[in-house]
Amino acid sequence: MSTTERTGAPLAGGLFITFEGPDGSGKSTQARLLAERLRREGYPVLESVEPGGTPIGQQIRRILLDPANQELRAIPELLLMFAARAQNVEQSILPALAEGKIVVSDRFTDSSIAYQGAARGLGWDTVLAVDRIACHGLSPDLTLCIDIETETGLSRAHSRNRSSAGPSEARFDEHAAEFHHKVREAYHELARREPERVRLIDGHRGENEVAQSVWNEVRELIGRRRRQENSQAANSRSADR
Ligand code: TYD
Repeated sequence: MSTTERTGAPLAGGLFITFEGPDGSGKSTQARLLAERLRREGYPVLESVEPGGTPIGQQIRRILLDPANQELRAIPELLLMFAARAQNVEQSILPALAEGKIVVSDRFTDSSIAYQGAARGLGWDTVLAVDRIACHGLSPDLTLCIDIETETGLSRAHSRNRSSAGPSEARFDEHAAEFHHKVREAYHELARREPERVRLIDGHRGENEVAQSVWNEVRELIGRRRRQENSQAANSRSADR
């Protein structure tokens, strides 16, 4: 059997896949479903959630999402997001990739671009400048952005907050609809700027249909990566001769 056909074998350097989308888009469910599917196929997987990701990140998350922290300004909010992210990158994500794992992260830097850069008005360049300090040049191999109408996403997020998450999860969901429109528009702009990496997935459909679209993208990426590995291996064999 050729390496191209083998599923589940770790990929050199791992793969970094992120999920993005407005609140209530269903991306967390999709991240979980993808991680489960990859594990069934035999891949080693690390699941990550931002803000959070590590025990230190979880402590930072509580500050960020606490609705009592109304006075939290945009720049400290951005720096806290990246404090949690930097810890996650160094402590969890980079070591997992070095072991050949597929890292599936529910949100990453694109969230900061959409929420702090666009919706909060700090600008993309400010976010990217902090990213350069915090993330060691790490950028996702693939970003799946679950796209949903702002109003639909917000009503899903509000009913989720009422039913389970409780007040401590609610600070971001409480922003005005205009804020969330800007978030969605920023994701569309990211997909226009980086169409290879950022794929918009229609999130208005049922969970299984969305999961199938996600899987199609991931399967294609893994296939591309395997072909690259194979041709590099063939090149180094012919160089050895
Ligand atoms: P969470 O309850 O995890 O919501 P979701 O399931 O929608 O991800 O809250 C995370 C909130 O933090 C969410 O509203 C988006 C926001 N956020 C930022 O503003 N910037 C960031 O960099 C990240 C990672 C999240």
